[in-house]
Amino acid sequence: MRPHISVKDLSVQYGALTILNHISIDIPDKKITAIIGPSGCGKTTLLKSFNRLLDLQEGAKVSGQVLVDGEDIYDPGTEMTHLRRRMGLLSQKPTVLPMSIYENVVYGLRIHGEKNKSKLDQAVEKYLREANLWNEVKDRLHDSASRLSIGQQQRLCLARGLAVEPEIILGDEPTSALDPVSAEQIEQRFLALKNQYTIVLVTHILRQAKRLADYVIFLYLGNLIEHGPAEKVLSSPRFVKTQAYLEGRFIEEFPIAAELDLCGGAKQDFPFRFEESLRGLTEGQIFKTLVDNEGLLRQILDLEQGQGHKVLEVRQISSTQWEIIIEKRGIGYSI
Ligand SMILES: Nc1ncnc2c1ncn2[C@@H]1O[C@H](COP(=O)(O)OP(=O)(O)O)[C@@H](O)[C@H]1O
Ligand SMILES: [Mg+2]
Repeated sequence: MRPHISVKDLSVQYGALTILNHISIDIPDKKITAIIGPSGCGKTTLLKSFNRLLDLQEGAKVSGQVLVDGEDIYDPGTEMTHLRRRMGLLSQKPTVLPMSIYENVVYGLRIHGEKNKSKLDQAVEKYLREANLWNEVKDRLHDSASRLSIGQQQRLCLARGLAVEPEIILGDEPTSALDPVSAEQIEQRFLALKNQYTIVLVTHILRQAKRLADYVIFLYLGNLIEHGPAEKVLSSPRFVKTQAYLEGRFIEEFPIAAELDLCGGAKQDFPFRFEESLRGLTEGQIFKTLVDNEGLLRQILDLEQGQGHKVLEVRQISSTQWEIIIEKRGIGYSI
C-alpha cells in the first residue's frame, strides 16, 4: 500500500496541554479513512494537521512530520497555497460564501485566475453534478447560496471544494448538522468519490464509520490506540479501550498494580523479570512496563498469546519510549 498521507511522530501541544501524543500513521490512497473517538480526543486537531490549518491556531506547538506524497508539509520551503489546493475541507457546519450558488462553485477557480466564461460555466455544472446538487439548483444558479437548505449548502461546499481539483477530501463530522436525508446524500457522495480521491472523515457516529470506512483510526485522549482495516478494528479490535468505546462503555484509566522499566540496560531483564512481575500478580491485576526498543515492544506484543496475559494498550510516550499496559490472565487462558 502506498500511503497518501504519512504522519510520523506527530505531537501537538497547546501550552502545557498535550493534545496529540506521538502519532504515527499512514493514510491509504483512494480509500475512506475514518478517525473515530470520543469528543475532545484530538480528531479535529489531527485532521487540521494534514493541511497545516493548525498554523492558524494561536499557541499550537507542532512537532513531527506529515508527508503528503512523500513531501514534508511542515518543511519551511513548502508552498502553502499549493498544499491547501490539494485538499478540500468540509466542516461540521456548511460555510457558504455570501454570494450566488454559481460564484460559490467558481470561487477557487477565480482566485487562480480563470476568467473564461464557458470554462466557468462548465465547471459549475460538472462539480454541482459531482456533488449531486445540479438538478436542484440548475434553474437558479444566480440566487444567493444562503437561501439553500443546510443540506444543500453542505453539498454546495463539497462542489466548491471539488472545483479546485483536490486530491484529498477532509471531512470534519460533515453530516453532524444535517437532517438524515441530507446526511445520507453526503455519505453517498463520499462513497461515489472514493475511487478518485483520498478521503479522511472524522466521525463520532460509529454506524457512519461502519457504512463508509475502509480504514479506521481510533484516538483516545490524544493517543493513537488502534488503527487498521475497518472490519478488523470495528468487529474484532485488539485493545480493550477500543472494545469499550465500540460498546459505548465508559473508558476507565487502569489501576496499575506493578511496573517494570525495561529501558536502557534493563532490557536484559527481559524476559525473566518480566515473567517474574507477572507471576507476582493475581488474575485481573494490571501491569505496566516501559520499553525504549521497538524490537522488544514487538516481542512483548507477539508474546501475548498463550502467555497468561493480555495487552490492553500501548501508549507511545516519547519518540523512543512506549508504555505497555498488560492485564494478568489465569494460566488456563493459554490457547
Ligand atoms: N485552540 C485551542 N487552544 C487550546 N486547546 C484547544 C484548542 N483547540 C482544541 N483544543 C483542545 O484540544 C483537545 C482536542 O480537541 P479537538 O481536536 O477539537 O477534539 P475532537 O475533534 O476529537 O473533539 C480538546 O481538549 C480541546 O479543548
Ligand atoms: Mg472535532
